[in-house]
Amino acid sequence: MKGIILAGGAGSRLYPASLPISKILLPVYDKPMAYYPITTLMLAGIKDILIISNPHDLGNFQRVLGDGSSLGIKFSYAVQTETRGIADSFLIAEDFIQNSPVALILGDNIFHGFGFSSMLKAVGAKTKGATVFGYQVNDPQRFGVVEFDKNNKAVSIEEKPQNPKSNYAVTGLYFYDDRVVEYAKTLKPSARGELEITDLNNIYLSHGALDVEILGRGFAWLDTGTFESLLQASNFVQSMEINTGMKIACIEEVAYRMGYIDAGQLARLSEKYKNNGYGAYIRKIVEQTSFAGV
Ligand code: DAU
Repeated sequence: MKGIILAGGAGSRLYPASLPISKILLPVYDKPMAYYPITTLMLAGIKDILIISNPHDLGNFQRVLGDGSSLGIKFSYAVQTETRGIADSFLIAEDFIQNSPVALILGDNIFHGFGFSSMLKAVGAKTKGATVFGYQVNDPQRFGVVEFDKNNKAVSIEEKPQNPKSNYAVTGLYFYDDRVVEYAKTLKPSARGELEITDLNNIYLSHGALDVEILGRGFAWLDTGTFESLLQASNFVQSMEINTGMKIACIEEVAYRMGYIDAGQLARLSEKYKNNGYGAYIRKIVEQTSFAGV
């Protein structure tokens, strides 16, 4: 399975904070926002990741993330010249996807919760159909919203409905089989001029090939779209990390735990962060590993 991170758009809702650099590279507590969606894909077992951004920001992504080889994975890069919609990702990525199943995550989507890794592993191993994730929200009008029948089966998805048929938003993480490019090519721009991811999901739904996994109570799907929610996301990550002593979305740790790199490579990665808690955290993992003889 391949992975795509969509990190384009102007990020103008966060201006002037995001004027100097893409919103997706702004920090969420102790790391760039991009680390969160990257680790989500890595936890799904994905090692081949395409990052799509606008022409202005793409170079910064390349500078920050490189080719991924130090993490035992592969990053490639592609440009989206205009914000033509989330489903445009599959037209841009056609050569990258090459008939493989593919997961797409929006660069500003942060997920955290118990059992998420196993859920991702299971969904990442599927090769037929599509999977999206539903999450209960207070303000469904802002999202794609799933309608369920009385057997809790998804029957429709509506994009930003005025009268939502449920409180379940479709999050910005999507898994598709090898039909995705073919289906994306049939989409027409919506009233707001975009190729809508909701239209693509409805095509899978009409073929009886869409699973909606519910992310339950206690699960965090964080918004980073406003000044307040961006700060709240940082505060959430800080509080979790301090309380548990474990980091959320430390790409080096995930690469190691997924078996993409060994303890020696992990130790080398920590050298970049000699003088702070981030490096100390990675070194602690290396020490625990040597102690346990793993
Ligand atoms: O966050 C989940 C929601 O994301 C879903 O519930 C909706 O169904 C889906 O349409 C989308 O809703 P938004 O309208 O809020 O998406 P937005 O236009 O804000 O774009 C999300 C991210 O993707 C944002 O960081 C910018 C980036 N993006 C968006 C478009 C349309 C691109 O990089 N290129 C694009 O062409």
